Amino acid sequence: MNYNFDEIINRENTNCIKWDLRESVFGRADVLPAWVADMDFRTPDFVMNAIREKAEHEIMGYVFRPQSFFDSVRDWLKRRNGWQTDSKDMVFTPGIVPALNFSVEVFTDKGDKVVIQPPVYTPFFGAIKDHERELIENPLVEKDGYYTIDFEDMERKLANNAKMFILCNPHNPVGRVWTKEELLQIGNLCVKHNVLIISDEIHCDLVFKPNKHIHIASLSDQIAQLTLTCLAPSKTFNMAGFATSIAHSANSEILKKFNSFIERYHLNMGNIFGNIAFEAAYKYGDDWLDQLLDYVKANMEYVEAFLKENMPEIRTRKNEGTYLMWLDFKAFNLKDSDLNDMLINKAGLGLNSGIMFGLEGKGFMRLNVACPRATLEKVMKQLLTIK
Ligand SMILES: Cc1ncc(COP(=O)(O)O)c(C=O)c1O
Repeated sequence: MNYNFDEIINRENTNCIKWDLRESVFGRADVLPAWVADMDFRTPDFVMNAIREKAEHEIMGYVFRPQSFFDSVRDWLKRRNGWQTDSKDMVFTPGIVPALNFSVEVFTDKGDKVVIQPPVYTPFFGAIKDHERELIENPLVEKDGYYTIDFEDMERKLANNAKMFILCNPHNPVGRVWTKEELLQIGNLCVKHNVLIISDEIHCDLVFKPNKHIHIASLSDQIAQLTLTCLAPSKTFNMAGFATSIAHSANSEILKKFNSFIERYHLNMGNIFGNIAFEAAYKYGDDWLDQLLDYVKANMEYVEAFLKENMPEIRTRKNEGTYLMWLDFKAFNLKDSDLNDMLINKAGLGLNSGIMFGLEGKGFMRLNVACPRATLEKVMKQLLTIK
């Protein structure tokens, strides 16, 4: 079946964050939004049909998650990435940001050091600071728009009594998909210094060939024994509104401790539609995802070519993964508030300011290209007005 990602669907007045919170986020409701990380594409038919079928039953009482819920993601991981997992090593989580916060609560104490790699997804900072843990930064190193890890700095920080490392793979916002060599180095350093790895792999399906997603826990038994991996179909299939995800650990003690938090607060009910949607997505999603990846990749190539031809002062690099492009506006030499103001008020665009992802994001903006090409063309046309 051929899916139509060109279709424009009006999302206004649906309480969707991306379109309906523009006024409060950007100060005006008429910006063209390309910020929050969801897609303007229809959630796939096989997910919606499963939801419709459940809705038709018209009894929405208490439910449990059947074995097939966990088997669907186990089979998906094996099929897509060659990672053999066991369904018994997985537990439900009501979203990945909650799972990051629970992990910090469960596995560290107040004042403990937790290491992250900015520029990185904003809630990583909150997951540490909001629980009064010490935020330790191992900033990524940028060269010509390509980001790598400063392993010497990382080892110093891990060795200085760090308790936890939160990995973002693929990395939001810089679009890297960490290689096997990089992941082995990260994993082995964490093993050496006995630092727990919380691996946020929410973007793991959004990887462009020839890059390949590698689950850090798949690399060795030692690494697996100190890793909790967070996974979800929410980014992949545009279904974040279900808040249904899982955490995996081959270490039964880690998993038990983590799950006891979820059970203590009775968070494991989740929601009836999330369960159904999750399973349908992982069971039937291959073809849809392959087509989505082609479309998003072409969108990225379009943006790259457009900028190169019309605004070479805005620099960007080919993404290895995610549908979020990281645009370098440093040539404009503007304060971040002025850059933001220019994009909102001159170009009429709603992008994420790079500074949200840490100080390393100064002079950058994050652009979400998971939208119909016609929308993206409008974004680029409006961007031209800042020239
Ligand atoms: C790296 C990363 N983790 C987690 C999330 C959100 O996860 P959830 O909606 O399941 O809380 C996002 C959304 O953009 C993300 O980019």
